[in-house]
Amino acid sequence: MGKMFIGYVVKKDGDEFKGSVERLPLSHLPQGDVLIRVSYSSLNYKDALSAKGNPGVTRKFPHIPGIDAAGVVEESSVPDFSPGDEVVVTGYDLGMNTDGGFAGYVRVPAAWVVPLPKGLTLRESMILGTAGFTAALSVHHLIRGGVTPDRGPVLVTGATGGVGSIAVSILAKLGYSVTASSGKRDQYDLLRSLGAKDVIPRETLDTDSPKAFLKPEWAGAVDTVGGKTLEYILKSTMYMGSVSSCGLVGGSSFCTTVFPFIIRGISLYGVDSVECPMDLRLEIWNRLSGEWKPSTLDLLASEIGLDDLSSAIEDILKGKIKGRTLVVPRSNAV
Ligand SMILES: NC(=O)c1ccc[n+]([C@@H]2O[C@H](COP(=O)([O-])OP(=O)(O)OC[C@H]3O[C@@H](n4cnc5c(N)ncnc54)[C@H](OP(=O)(O)O)[C@@H]3O)[C@@H](O)[C@H]2O)c1
Repeated sequence: MGKMFIGYVVKKDGDEFKGSVERLPLSHLPQGDVLIRVSYSSLNYKDALSAKGNPGVTRKFPHIPGIDAAGVVEESSVPDFSPGDEVVVTGYDLGMNTDGGFAGYVRVPAAWVVPLPKGLTLRESMILGTAGFTAALSVHHLIRGGVTPDRGPVLVTGATGGVGSIAVSILAKLGYSVTASSGKRDQYDLLRSLGAKDVIPRETLDTDSPKAFLKPEWAGAVDTVGGKTLEYILKSTMYMGSVSSCGLVGGSSFCTTVFPFIIRGISLYGVDSVECPMDLRLEIWNRLSGEWKPSTLDLLASEIGLDDLSSAIEDILKGKIKGRTLVVPRSNAV
């Protein structure tokens, strides 16, 4: 038999989905231009949805989740990448219906591969991962919308989560006055050490107020929560403010009137990290490796192996994770 690798394989068992670490031949991996030995992956909320059989994320099982991977090219059929190159893959179909980064190896189309930006190690690139990329894309949209530090406070919701914690760090580094909203009262100090000026309880932003407007409080917001929280944000954003909507941990639907848009002139930006075009993708990674690189990356990271994934997946679904969870496939080829 040829070379083997280990992967966290999720299988459907009746109505249940169960993951376990297995040895698989490299021939198990899909066709693709670039074979990458994975040094690090990371756990994102979407990986948990995949591992639980959410059909909006993954339709075919058995499946190896992991929407992020960073590692070293081992084989390449295209001139753009050579063995030994350090690379990052986030988004596209990785970990959705293409076997993903919770494994010793991934094989992907060259069009998905980003050279590791100078200024980041492979480990740092995965502390950031899709969460960091999404946080940076959200900040990019706020800046595009004209939100500058002198305009007023910027709100970040789900602030101890992966996207939220990195959004807090980036915005603080860029000089914004950040208000972090969190459900974890015991993590307020962490949020302050990431650079949040104020921290407010999650429930503050979850209201059934029938009013079209609330007191204008935010020059901008990065919202990872959606649902009623996004309703509240739209009502409480200042004149000409901007809101980046990137997540749905609190709900996928929300109600709004047109008034925040036609009277306060606010802008609502949609954030998509998955199909983000390569030119913008490279620009965002470039910023993340330079002037936007959080100085607090190590503070955000914890490390687990493939064996720990099942319990970490339960934790992220319960909103219990803080910061970023690096996944290290400890034995790539066996
Ligand atoms: N648009 C994109 O391309 C893109 C990319 C990546 C992620 N996302 C989305 O962004 C969201 C966050 O992802 P993530 O990886 O950062 O997840 P995460 O690490 O699990 O963080 C989510 C955070 O939201 C808060 N939270 C949890 N349950 C909540 C609830 N019921 N109501 C309100 N807040 C709740 C918690 O923070 P506190 O305890 O501090 O409140 C939690 O840590 C997810 O919806 C994910 O699907 C979108």
